[in-house]
Amino acid sequence: RSASSFPHPCVDTARSNEENADINWDDLGFGLVPTDYMYVMRCSRDDNFSSGVLTRYGNIELSPSAGVLNYGQGLFEGLKAYRKQDGGGFLLFRPEENARRMQMGAERMCMPSLSVEQFIHAVKETVLANKRWVPPQGKGSLYIRPLLIGIGPVLGLAPAPDYMFLIYAAPVGTYFKEGLAPINLVIDDKIPRATPGGTGDVKTITNYAPVLKAQTQAKAKGFTDVIYVDSINKKYLEEASSCNLFIVKGDVISTPATTKGTILHGVTRKSIIEIAIDCGYRVEERLVSLVDLLDADEVFCTGTAVVVAPVDSITYQDQRYKYKTGTETVTQKLYNILTAIQMGLVEDRKNWTV
Ligand code: COI
Repeated sequence: RSASSFPHPCVDTARSNEENADINWDDLGFGLVPTDYMYVMRCSRDDNFSSGVLTRYGNIELSPSAGVLNYGQGLFEGLKAYRKQDGGGFLLFRPEENARRMQMGAERMCMPSLSVEQFIHAVKETVLANKRWVPPQGKGSLYIRPLLIGIGPVLGLAPAPDYMFLIYAAPVGTYFKEGLAPINLVIDDKIPRATPGGTGDVKTITNYAPVLKAQTQAKAKGFTDVIYVDSINKKYLEEASSCNLFIVKGDVISTPATTKGTILHGVTRKSIIEIAIDCGYRVEERLVSLVDLLDADEVFCTGTAVVVAPVDSITYQDQRYKYKTGTETVTQKLYNILTAIQMGLVEDRKNWTV
């Protein structure tokens, strides 16, 4: 049955009248809190995705020879739903950007993809089915995780014959254990995250496991996360493990350009660039050297999960560089503007929210 003809799942749950799930909303981090429903669609390689269903959240069964398990044919997305203050529903932030990014990734990874409308419809269905898990305003958001994976069997290297699009969701608070406090990063110039012409600009699952080693080593030394540099010269800034990076010097805000295919096209990255330009800052998308990074006034990270995270220090070759943080920073100003739009606290002049 198509999602729209499926009886709305909240109607048939014992707890359907609950406005909010019974959990401690003050205790949310970025761990998995399983919710009630997930949205599933399937299609074969030569077909288009047509209809999806909401089913109870749970394990999925895969062939041991599924394309995603053997050759990493998979993409993921991340977006958030916020509960509106007046109790009048939920807000999604630029979901069409996630839909388009998944289409771009699917083309690169030889997978069929959904239309923007199908993607947004599926996201809305998932949020409504799990609405009791959307945190009260100010306590966090419902993180929505779409996946597109090759589920059909392959042995020789080839695109899988069948695909699954799946969305699950979980209530989340801040991404880093520091909460909203400034974070401490370390530069790793031994393990690159991406190479020019590779898939660093695609949200493929295969971009993430390779950074776990650097991330684990950094965490063991007490750092929050890792900054990766370009794989060739080892002197230009790229990204952190899970987010894009910006530097601030005077009235100029710079971030690594996406032109070499090594930088993820972050939705938050793109939004912060637009907000900063509207605020009158000069924004440069360019090669950002480590010299520029270490000499910056402020550094911050952006991402859907991370939002806008101020950086307190960066350690490079055992030396610690400190940055300006606090309420009077450019970082804080951009954070305030972005989150006010995302939570529906100000008029959304850009029509970013749905
Ligand atoms: C996000 O920011 O939504 C991401 O997908 C990054 C992920 C590593 C948590």
